[in-house]
Amino acid sequence: MADLVEKSKKLSAYAAVDDNLLSTHRVIGIGSGSTVVYVAERVGQASNKSDLVCVPTGFQSRQLIIDNGLRLGSTEEYPEIDIAFDGADEIDTNLGLIKGGGACLFQEKLVAACSKQLVVVADYRKDTGVLGKGWRKGVPIEVVPAAYTKVSLDLAKLGGKPVVRSGLPAKAGPVVTDNGNFIIDCDFGEIPPAQVAELNAKIKALVGVVETGLFVGLASKAYIGNADGTITKKT
Ligand code: A5P
Repeated sequence: MADLVEKSKKLSAYAAVDDNLLSTHRVIGIGSGSTVVYVAERVGQASNKSDLVCVPTGFQSRQLIIDNGLRLGSTEEYPEIDIAFDGADEIDTNLGLIKGGGACLFQEKLVAACSKQLVVVADYRKDTGVLGKGWRKGVPIEVVPAAYTKVSLDLAKLGGKPVVRSGLPAKAGPVVTDNGNFIIDCDFGEIPPAQVAELNAKIKALVGVVETGLFVGLASKAYIGNADGTITKKT
């Protein structure tokens, strides 16, 4: 099972890069997570790699870019990115996403918003059709530390079940993001595709919320690696 999942991640990542990384692309967004490891590997094999600048979405992603011999850039230098590749925790039928399993959602959304296209790479477990159906419960929400109790109350009023991400062995106390903030995972149950944008807007409006892991209208394509070795492409 673990081996099948790993193979599916590599399959989706390699296919996404091979199909979408054009010779005209210069500035590439590199997302976070375990599937993106294969994206960075494949981009690092490109014949024109010395012409590329790669913009990371966090510490892990920065290391992937360096380890694959690629040139690092930033959104300050490159606010217009040709194409970004990133993973997802869940994908719905409108290409709405839940992201932030790795706590990198703010920089992931920043890079996605700077990019002309966002191509999602994922194994078959992420293709849930409706957000909130996956094994990893909840929408990750990045919050300013001083506001976490207030935002937790607000989220409960919106019908969610908020939990501050924390815990041993990874961390004694709350997980701290690359931006020095906390993550609240808030379970809203299943979120119908037509309601994702509205829920995202309500969460974003809460004072103390930096960003949500709901990605609406940002992904242009998704490559799902299937257990049987095939790929499902979604647009
Ligand atoms: C990081 O914060 C996340 O958004 C990841 O991109 C997402 O959790 C997918 O990660 P995997 O590719 O490891 O499943």
